[in-house]
Amino acid sequence: MKVRGTVRPPGDKSISHRALMLAALARGTSQLEGLLTGADVKSTARVLRQLGVDIAPIRDSGTVTVHASRISHPASRLHCGNSGTTARLMLGILAGQRFPATLTGDASLRRRPMRRVTEPLRTMGAEITEGRGDALPLTIRGGRLHSLTYATPVASAQIKSALLLAGLTGGVAVTIREPYRSRDHTERLLAHLGLGLHERDGAIVYEPPSSRDARAVVPAFQLSVPGDASSAAFLVGAAALAQGGELVIENVGVNPTRTGFLVVLARMGARVERVNLRDAGGEPVADLVARPGALRATEVTAAEVPTLVDEVPILAVLASRAEGETVFREVGELRVKESNRLELIAANLRALGVEAEARGNDLHVCGTTRPPRGRVDTARDHRLAMAFAVLGTVLGADVRLSERASVAISYPRFFADLKSIRDGGRGTRDG
Ligand code: S3P
Repeated sequence: MKVRGTVRPPGDKSISHRALMLAALARGTSQLEGLLTGADVKSTARVLRQLGVDIAPIRDSGTVTVHASRISHPASRLHCGNSGTTARLMLGILAGQRFPATLTGDASLRRRPMRRVTEPLRTMGAEITEGRGDALPLTIRGGRLHSLTYATPVASAQIKSALLLAGLTGGVAVTIREPYRSRDHTERLLAHLGLGLHERDGAIVYEPPSSRDARAVVPAFQLSVPGDASSAAFLVGAAALAQGGELVIENVGVNPTRTGFLVVLARMGARVERVNLRDAGGEPVADLVARPGALRATEVTAAEVPTLVDEVPILAVLASRAEGETVFREVGELRVKESNRLELIAANLRALGVEAEARGNDLHVCGTTRPPRGRVDTARDHRLAMAFAVLGTVLGADVRLSERASVAISYPRFFADLKSIRDGGRGTRDG
């Protein structure tokens, strides 16, 4: 199969959530362009509407207008769908409100840990009642918060962002240290809006102005959301595995806290260039030019993991076509993503004839030249579906996916885009 043409990945999921949330807390009307239309971002919009924010429908083209007014007590439970970012960041926003709200989610989200966020929020003074232990549903009643200095045990942008948003809505200072730097979109957006965010001795510090009312401090804004590097990674992966050709992926966010996969791919011998580097609302953006290359194995270090945490599925797929054994160190966090990605990556690779194994918190993948053939259980996890669909594009492959609909979470047009960049070759099928 050869690749060809030009694609634009959908809007960045992380930035879309944050843009909607900050617009909802702002004073006045904000205009957001390029928002992701995926189901996760729609979950954030739905929850914010339940809290009284007026958000125009999120459609493929055009600008979304957000009219903010003071957020208020919801009439029913806040359903966060499949979206961990919605649940965890909203807990931060709700920690600064004086009304109770109950959050829940789908079966996958209700299995994901929440104490990583609720414990520090409790320390700040939020009252949180658990329905079922360390999981959703949860009821939170915010109020008068205290400032917090916190070292997170996990490098997680969701934890960090929840605490920064609690500082913002509660009008208190928050200082956070993380073991490794996770994606910094919240920090960049707060700084871009002129809110009190800075770095001090390696810690991230939010300092409120003298007013305790967050609405008084968040200005209405306009933002153009860049394309999602994590979605682009699947297209880059398809190009790397092709027999020839060249693929241009336009308007990709290349924030270094998100592009660890490009660093690892360069080590593996893939050829990806960044061109037209520019800035969009405090975020670096570029076009990527990706070409096929002979891949070799590598070791992904623990420090690199936060910069590529959502790209482990596609990198593991690429490792299965590389020469030698690739090791991903300290990827235990993958157990608590939309599925148990650590076990499912390994099990699905094995189902396709690849040697792969989770050993403790490390993932080992041995490359092969044999065509992958067999059935993949995606567990309705969008990133597993996309990664294995890419593996299904190699010559002689016969990859059957248990479902394909989950791609709507982060990349609704994924299968259409994957088809459009291919010149010959067969696709994956449901099975
Ligand atoms: C996200 C942070 C990451 C990532 C998720 C989105 C965010 O999760 O896996 O897809 O937008 O903050 P963790 O914070 O749990 O690592």
